[in-house]
Amino acid sequence: MVRYFVTAALAVLLSVTLVRADAPKCGPGSLCPASAPCCSQYGQCGVGAYCLGGCDPLFSHQLDSCVVAPVCKSADYTLKSLDDVMSIDKYLGDSSSINWVSQGQPVVYNNALLLTMAQDTVGTLLASTHYVWYGKISAKMTTSQGQGVVTAFIMMSDVKDEIDFEFIGVDIEHAQSNYYSQGVTNYHNEENLTVSNTVENVHEYTIDWQPDTLTWSIDGNVMRTLKRSDTWNATANRFDYPQTPSRIMLSLWPAGLSTNDIGTVNWAGGLINWNSPYMQNGYYYAMVQEVSLQCYDPPSGANITGKNSYVYNNEAGTNNTVAIVDETEILASFYATGENPSYNPNAVVSGSKSSAASAPTQSVETVPGMSGGGNRGGDPVSSASASAGEATGTASVAAGESAATGSAAAQATASGGFSQGGGNAAGSGASALKTEGRVLGGSVLAICVAVLGLLVI
Ligand SMILES: *[C@@H]1O[C@H](CO)[C@@H](O)[C@H](O)[C@H]1NC(C)=O
Ligand SMILES: *[C@@H]1O[C@H](CO)[C@@H](O)[C@H](O)[C@H]1NC(C)=O
Ligand SMILES: *[C@@H]1O[C@H](CO)[C@@H](O)[C@H](O)[C@H]1NC(C)=O
Ligand SMILES: *[C@@H]1O[C@H](CO)[C@@H](O)[C@H](O)[C@H]1NC(C)=O
Repeated sequence: MVRYFVTAALAVLLSVTLVRADAPKCGPGSLCPASAPCCSQYGQCGVGAYCLGGCDPLFSHQLDSCVVAPVCKSADYTLKSLDDVMSIDKYLGDSSSINWVSQGQPVVYNNALLLTMAQDTVGTLLASTHYVWYGKISAKMTTSQGQGVVTAFIMMSDVKDEIDFEFIGVDIEHAQSNYYSQGVTNYHNEENLTVSNTVENVHEYTIDWQPDTLTWSIDGNVMRTLKRSDTWNATANRFDYPQTPSRIMLSLWPAGLSTNDIGTVNWAGGLINWNSPYMQNGYYYAMVQEVSLQCYDPPSGANITGKNSYVYNNEAGTNNTVAIVDETEILASFYATGENPSYNPNAVVSGSKSSAASAPTQSVETVPGMSGGGNRGGDPVSSASASAGEATGTASVAAGESAATGSAAAQATASGGFSQGGGNAAGSGASALKTEGRVLGGSVLAICVAVLGLLVI
C-alpha cells in the first residue's frame, strides 16, 4: 500500500550507482545511440554487459542491440558454493557455463549463500543467466532484519514485467507480494502475506507463473492468486499481467539511506542502523539455500522457430512479440553488442593486435551499475576494463557525477562492492519532486522519468 514511484525491486536497479553524468540515458522516446546501443536496466546506454541480462530492447538502439536471452532451463540450484556464480563484470553471456551473475558480495556459509550488506555498501544482487517464460520458481531462504533493510526474491523481464516477494526488515511476519507490467506503477497491486518469522525460519517462497494465472505460495500454501483476465488495462489495450521472459533475482539492499527518497525510506521502516545487532561479521545478510526452477512449455501460439533464445520482434514488448529462436550469442569482449557480438578491439589478428583504430575512441560504458562510481582500485570495474583491454577508454574513469555525490557509494566501492548507492541515486541538490507526500530525489527522478515516464506531479 505504501507505494512510491518505482517498484521496490526496480528501485534496487535504479538506485544502483548512476553512471557518468554524460552517459546517454534511455527510456520512452529516447533510444540509445548507435555508439552505445544497449539500454541497461538502469536506463543508461552502453556496450558489453549493458547488452546482457536486463538490457531493455524497447529503449535500445535497435531491437537486436540486446543479446538474445537464454531460454528457461529447469534445475535445482543448491547454492553451496560460488562455482555457479560469476560477477557481472566477468560474464560475457555464456549461460551454458554459469547460471548466476552477481553484484556485491555473495558469501558461502553453511551450505548456503549469504547475500551480504556491509556497512555503507549497497548490498548484493544475484540474477539468473537463464530467463523464464512461465514456470514454477521457488526459493528456500531467510531474510534480513532491521529498519531500512530490504530482502527480495523477484522475477523481472527486460521490458520490466515483474513478480515480487519483498521483505521489509521491520516486518518479519509478512512477505509483500506484488506484480507490475512494463514497469508501470500501480499502487493497488501489493498484498501482504502472513508468514512466521522470516529471519529465523527458512521458508519456501514459490511463484507459480502461468500464462493465465499467477500464484504466490509459502511453504506450499497458495497465499495469493492473480488471474490475467482481471488485469485488463483499457487505456493501454493490453493485460497488465507479467507476460515476458524474466530473470530470477535475489537481493538484499539498503532502502533506508538518507540519500534515498523519503517514500522509499518510510516504506522500508526508516534509516538503516549500521551498528545494528542484526548485523553479524560486519554485515546484514539474507540466506538463500536453494532455488528451484521448473520451466513450463512455451505458451500455445508462441512463435517458435528454434530452441535456444527468446527475442522480441516488436516494440510492443508483449507476450505475442516474444519469439523463440535457435540463435545464441556470446560476446567476444566487453565492447561487443547484440548487433556485433564478435567485436573485440583487442583480438589478436595475424599475430598482432588489431589496429588501435578499431578500438573504441570514445568513452563508453561497459558494465552497468559498476562503472559509474569512479575507478576504484582492484574493484571489478578495473578488471572489466582490463579484460576489455582499454582501461582509459572506459567509464571506469571517475565522472563528475560520482564525485559530486554521496559518500555511501564511494565507500561501498572501497570494499569492492557495487553501488546500489542511494548516495548518488537520491540526487545531488537537484530539486525533489513531491507527489502524494512522497519525495523523489533528483537523479532517481530523472531516471524514473526517462525509464518509466510515469510520474505525475
Ligand atoms: C503491508 O504491511 C506494511 C507494514 O509491514 C504496511 O505498511 C502496508 O500498508 C501493508 N500493505 C497492505 C496492502 O496492507
Ligand atoms: C494502464 O496503462 C497506462 C499506460 O501504460 C498506465 O498509465 C495506467 O497507469 C495503467 N492503469 C492502471 C490501472 O494500472
Ligand atoms: C498472449 O496473450 C493473449 C491475451 O492477451 C493471449 O490470447 C495469447 O494467446 C497470448 N499469446 C502467447 C503467445 O502467449
Ligand atoms: C516469428 O519470429 C521470428 C524471429 O523473431 C520473426 O522473424 C517472425 O517475423 C515472427 N513471425 C511472426 C508471425 O510474428
